[in-house]
Amino acid sequence: MLPLADFIAQSMQVVRTKKDMESIVKSILLKNKTIGFVPTMGYLHSGHLSLLKTAQKSNDVSVCSIFVNPTQFNNTEDFKLYPRNEKHDFELLETNGCDIVFAPEDELVNYIEDIALDLKGVDSLMEGKFRPGHFKGVVNIVALLFTIVKPSAAYFGEKDFQQLAIVKMLAKSHFPAIEIVSCATSREESGLAMSSRNARLSKEEKQKALAISKALFYIKEEAKSTKETQELKEKAIDLFFKSGELQLDYLEISDMHSLLPIEKIEQRAVVCIAAFCGKVRLIDNIVIN
Ligand code: PAJ
Repeated sequence: MLPLADFIAQSMQVVRTKKDMESIVKSILLKNKTIGFVPTMGYLHSGHLSLLKTAQKSNDVSVCSIFVNPTQFNNTEDFKLYPRNEKHDFELLETNGCDIVFAPEDELVNYIEDIALDLKGVDSLMEGKFRPGHFKGVVNIVALLFTIVKPSAAYFGEKDFQQLAIVKMLAKSHFPAIEIVSCATSREESGLAMSSRNARLSKEEKQKALAISKALFYIKEEAKSTKETQELKEKAIDLFFKSGELQLDYLEISDMHSLLPIEKIEQRAVVCIAAFCGKVRLIDNIVIN
C-alpha cells in the first residue's frame, strides 16, 4: 500500500476491504490530517457530488464510500433492482477530485453489529412506519462506516431528512467527535429531487413524478397564508395526487426537529412526501416557514 503523501499526489485510491481502509485511515490520522466522509450507495449524481464538494472544502482528505447496504432494504426486490454502475461512479469521483473511494466487497455485511440507540420514536414515523427495519439498517451501517473511516466530519443530504435527523442522534450518542454536516437537496431543473432511483423511471414516469416537488413547492407557498396543516394537505392531495398517477404513501407536515406531525404551522416545519411512481418509490421534502 502507498504512503499517504504518494496516494494524495496520485489518482484516486480505490479501497476494497475493511482492513485496507483501516490501515490507510491510520496513516492519515498519524499525519494529523482531517477526513471528510461522504457515505453513499453509489449510482452517483450531482446531489452526491455536491456533498463531496462540501467535504473537500473543509478537510485534508475526502473519502466517499459506495456500498449498497442490504440490511436497510425492507424489500428484496428493491435491493436487487437498486441501480449500480461502479465504473461510472469511480470515473465521476476521480474527475471530481475525490481522494479515496471505499467500495468494500460484500464481506462488509459480516461486520455489521446491532447498535443500541434510542431514536425517540423518530424511527416509527414516515419512512420508519412504511419501511420497517430501514433505519435500524441505516444506523448499523453508518456506525460501522464511521468506526472504519473515523472522519472529522460526515456529509449527509437533506433529501433524506429523516435519515439526517437519525444520523445526528447516532453521532451525538456514539460518535460525538464527528460533525454531521447537512447539505441542501440538489434538484433537476424541473424541480425533481435527484435520486439514484430516478434511473429506474421511464420518461413519462419522470414527468409524472414532478407532482411530488410541485406539491412541496405549492405547500411552501400556501403556508404563507394558510396555517392549518390538514387544510394544506387536503388541498395539495386534491391538486397533485387525486389523478392516481402516483400512489402516495404519506404527505406529512411535521415539526422540523421532533418530526412529529403538527396541526398548525407556528414554527419551522418540514413537509415530507413519499410516493410510488410505477414501481419506484420516491421521497422528497421541503423546509417551510
Ligand atoms: P444514498 O441514497 O446513495 O445517498 C447518499 C447521500 O447522498 C445521503 O446523505 C443522501 O441524503 C444524499 N443525497 C441523495 N440525493 C441527494 C440530492 N438530490 N441532493 C443532496 N443530497 C442527496 O442515503 C444513503 O445512500 C444510505 O442510506 C447511506 C447513508 C449511504 C447508508 O447506507
